[in-house]
Amino acid sequence: MRTIGVLTSGGDAPGMNAAIRSVVRTSIYNKVKVMGIKQGYNGLLNGEVDEMNLSSVADIIHRGGTMLRSARCDEFKTEEGLNKALNVIKVFGIDGLVVLGGDGTFKGAKNLCDAGVPVVCIPCTIDNDMGYTDYTIGFFTAVETVVDAISKIRDTSTSHGRANIVEVMGRRCGDIALYSGLAGGAESIIVPEMDFDIDEVCKRVIQGRNRGKLHHIIALAEGVGNAYEVAKEIEEKTGTDTRVTILGHIQRGGSPTAFDRIMASKMGNKAVELLLNNESGRALGMKCNEIVDIDLDEALNAEKKLDKEMYEIAKILSI
Ligand code: F6P
Repeated sequence: MRTIGVLTSGGDAPGMNAAIRSVVRTSIYNKVKVMGIKQGYNGLLNGEVDEMNLSSVADIIHRGGTMLRSARCDEFKTEEGLNKALNVIKVFGIDGLVVLGGDGTFKGAKNLCDAGVPVVCIPCTIDNDMGYTDYTIGFFTAVETVVDAISKIRDTSTSHGRANIVEVMGRRCGDIALYSGLAGGAESIIVPEMDFDIDEVCKRVIQGRNRGKLHHIIALAEGVGNAYEVAKEIEEKTGTDTRVTILGHIQRGGSPTAFDRIMASKMGNKAVELLLNNESGRALGMKCNEIVDIDLDEALNAEKKLDKEMYEIAKILSI
């Protein structure tokens, strides 16, 4: 293993930069050349590859986004795209790849792996939607951002005696809504994994109002459906003025939390170590607070489950 390539693909996540820094510095420490591939698989098949040095990753550990930039690349899913990428890997003498991203990124990595390229994957997505790991890099930064937003919305909710729906990201996964809803003291948490009864939500609005509660926060995961329709129904059924805030991409940016930076630094280091030990087709993750590496196939097939216990606790605490 003389040359390692690193790329970030799919939706960016806070902590990606800390992981890139770790990959670059661990490689150079081990006297291995490291190549940065720009714009994910796009850059890989178009040959956007540059050698990195210690200073390339200076002053980035605290920055959100990804200095390598990112993209979602449809061409890479075709045989022609894959062949282009394999050719670039050969031309630049890349012996192994560290790939940072979510589910779609891992699927691309699997294709490279099947074609004989040693690959190690690092889970980076704010969604925390990968079943094989308890945690993905960027998740806790996104949760902090949402909790901060909920606290601000709570102020205005209280002032006006309204119900406020806060729609958060996560695709089909409710983790951002669940974790930030619990941490932000939301009255209701609505996620795609659990059946949702609008009458139950309305009952909580009325019960809260009757016991003098002035605010009412509903954390709604984007995968559930249209927030404005939910708001309309709540207004009609409870008579409480209801507003919607869709947080959107603000959840993807910002300086990563210390936890995200630490995990990114550890996983970047471990990814390089695995490649140096001739391991391939591995996905890094966290299980019971330990960093683990598992077979990439297994990682891709693991079903993500919502933490039902946590969901129930949030329900009990918001009565
Ligand atoms: O996967 C991360 C994520 O931010 C999801 O939560 C969201 O549904 C999606 O990406 C948005 O994608 P895009 O940035 O391409 O609009």
